[in-house]
Amino acid sequence: MQNIDQQISSGKCPPKLTDSFGRQIKYLRISVTDRCNLRCTYCMPSEGITTIPHNKILRFEEIERLIDIFTSFGIEKVRFTGGEPFVRKGFVGLLDKVSRNENLKSVNITTNGVLLTKHAAQLEKLNIENINLSLDSLDEYNFEKITRKNNLKDVLDSLDWLLKSNIKTKINCVVQADIYKEQIKNLSELTINNDVEVRFIEQMPFNGSGANNVFTSKDTLAYIKNIYSEVQEIQTKRNTAVNYKIKGAKGTIGLISSYERSFCDSCNRLRITSIGMMKNCLYDNGVLDLRELLRSEKSDDEIRALIINSVGKKLKDGHEAEKYLNKFDSMSSIGG
Ligand code: 5AD
Ligand code: SF4
Repeated sequence: MQNIDQQISSGKCPPKLTDSFGRQIKYLRISVTDRCNLRCTYCMPSEGITTIPHNKILRFEEIERLIDIFTSFGIEKVRFTGGEPFVRKGFVGLLDKVSRNENLKSVNITTNGVLLTKHAAQLEKLNIENINLSLDSLDEYNFEKITRKNNLKDVLDSLDWLLKSNIKTKINCVVQADIYKEQIKNLSELTINNDVEVRFIEQMPFNGSGANNVFTSKDTLAYIKNIYSEVQEIQTKRNTAVNYKIKGAKGTIGLISSYERSFCDSCNRLRITSIGMMKNCLYDNGVLDLRELLRSEKSDDEIRALIINSVGKKLKDGHEAEKYLNKFDSMSSIGG
């Protein structure tokens, strides 16, 4: 019987990526930049955030090489995040290439939507499965209060376009304790006439300071039920969101307990930050410096063996990982 290294080197049987709890990794989230054209309060301070020099950010060829390495482990789904991915020059070119990669079943993007309509014509032609649009409020004042910018109109234009396109759309809203009523009321209402999933997300402490004021999914559900008398839970395959539908609505509402971390037992994801640090969990310090490996003489097989080793160290859940966390970074460098 060959050991794992021999199996990889023989090229016959690339093993699946499985952690010590039997969870198989199938989903890779890649941050393409730490830069962003918004300044969301839950993600970063208003000033003083230092941007990472370009030479430390993974190059597109490096990202493509990583995708080839990870698809050899059977990973079929990739999501590009930021910062804001569309602020990186050439991002649509990367999408073009990756969306033609036959080993991938699904290419997805998380974006704040400010620049989306500029790329609409090109995006229509690509094979993008899903776009998660960050949209925390439909109210101009609250939108600006959260994002510190006044781009609500641009984001709403993007949403209009997305709803007409054949790209599946989800809206991400990080619920804020001070304005939750407006956020939940207006965004839930969107699901009534639109085939869209609105996801209310618990705020996590990744804003550069570690401070947090969580409005929980439990409280969000209570408020939704307070507005709409008939709200049903709908059974979906296990994922991070628990889904609901207002009676008669076209769309659905998802609740994501990212602070409570109630979904870790089915976690199937890995993250790669913009500087190429692999993370087994949002709450860990980073487990493998992929950029260093990609820029060394190491072969793909050698890198694969190191990835397998690092995935083996994935901890049981985000609470365990947090025990060893040195610092709550800005989400812009992790990718959400
Ligand atoms: N807590 C929860 N979610 C966050 N995001 C960014 N920062 C946080 C945070 N502190 C999520 C938002 C956004 C995506 C890019 O990351 O949902 O849509
Ligand atoms: Fe930018 Fe997203 Fe962070 Fe907002 S949450 S500042 S849109 S990276």
